[in-house]
Amino acid sequence: MFVSLVALVAILPVFVNAQSPVYGQCGGKRFQALVGCSAGPTTCAAGSTCTYSNPYYSQCLPGGGTTKTTTTTPVTGPTSTPHTTSTAPGGSQTPDAGNPFLGHNIYLTPFYAAEVAAAAANLTGTTQTKALSVAKIPTFTWFDTVAKVPSLGTYLADASAQGKASGTPMIVEIIVYDLPDRDCAAAASNGEFSIANNGQANYFNYIDQLVAQIKQYPDVRVIAIIEPDSLANLVTNLNVSKCANAQTTYLACVTYAIQQLNKLGNVYSYLDAGHAGWLGWPANLSPAAQLFTSLYKNAGSPSFVRGLATNVANYNSFSTNSPDPITQGNANYDELHYINALAPVLQSAGFPSHFIVDQGRSGVQNIRQQWGDWCNVKGAGFGTRPTTNTGVSLVDAFVWAKPGGECDGTSNTSAARYDYHCGLSDADQPAPEAGTWFQEYFVTLVNNANPPL
Ligand code: BGC
Repeated sequence: MFVSLVALVAILPVFVNAQSPVYGQCGGKRFQALVGCSAGPTTCAAGSTCTYSNPYYSQCLPGGGTTKTTTTTPVTGPTSTPHTTSTAPGGSQTPDAGNPFLGHNIYLTPFYAAEVAAAAANLTGTTQTKALSVAKIPTFTWFDTVAKVPSLGTYLADASAQGKASGTPMIVEIIVYDLPDRDCAAAASNGEFSIANNGQANYFNYIDQLVAQIKQYPDVRVIAIIEPDSLANLVTNLNVSKCANAQTTYLACVTYAIQQLNKLGNVYSYLDAGHAGWLGWPANLSPAAQLFTSLYKNAGSPSFVRGLATNVANYNSFSTNSPDPITQGNANYDELHYINALAPVLQSAGFPSHFIVDQGRSGVQNIRQQWGDWCNVKGAGFGTRPTTNTGVSLVDAFVWAKPGGECDGTSNTSAARYDYHCGLSDADQPAPEAGTWFQEYFVTLVNNANPPL
């Protein structure tokens, strides 16, 4: 995961070639200044056309069109087909109107319950009791390696049985998180696939495997958060060469993911949209909305893409009357301000503007030295419980996306995935590898929970 200081500055795309790749930026005020063009776009790779979006952003979109309207031709690999021609294996091809969380119970993933039980076994007294209660709070499961995908089938089978037994259908909450060259602007969550080594094909296979599992349980609803940080990195971090190099692949992979999941008819997707301190800076809102919208339209406007997920694995308050001092300078100092600022831009661009907001570790504020600090921030507490009572019609639910107690990144400076954010003075140390259990941090979250557990 990455939410660095780079996020605090306005977008700084850097392209040095006269020709931009498909999905690359080919024009826009700052861009043209950077590449030394006085007017007009640079050229685009064969098969794509420089398409004006706004004064700050033109993009090479597939096809030969000259207008803002994008093609509905799938832009991914040969196995991809537009959602409109697919046949549903089970669920409806028309999403239910309204909030997809309603009318369902959320499945409690046994993997997280087991992590929590093991943690609690080392605790005593009220801390132990409080710790055990965390296992009853719905938390997303991250499919961060292809090897974990078969476990989804087990969860779905279990959820299906529970739904039948209770008469109330179930939701299984998943995070799709296995892009090649993952976490391109940071080190802590670098993944198993690399673009240089067949990464896109490996990713398509990973998505195909997820789809194969979900297809067997059309009675279970899946809520999916798609690829934390990936699109936000494409908005603000193209000055990082790994991100610039990953741009085309990320777009093709995310497109493939939402198209394939959309065919199933029971998967509601939210694209990850960073957080208030990242894409919520005023200069980033419009480029972000443009990227989400162009990707969505190029994918054929998949009807089960419900909107965006914000604050995933971050610490921001949903709504506060006393902004954390680190947010100064940004009028969008909490997630609600960010969402209220982004939604109109999305709506006018034609992107479905519904949101879910991670509040799992947002219980305590004013604990960071910089807004861009994201790694195991000391003093954090579990936050508002998952609920659809958000008080805001744009927000479908508060969720717990980051499983509290799983680490953000190692503090071991000699580890391959060491990221300096995990060695900052506001980062809890010593910390193990990202995704592995961090007992001391879990206990902190438990003790500082707000509301209390
Ligand atoms: C890690 C993943 C992990 C996820 C949830 C990420 O930072 O890279 O491996 O599954 O957090 O804990």
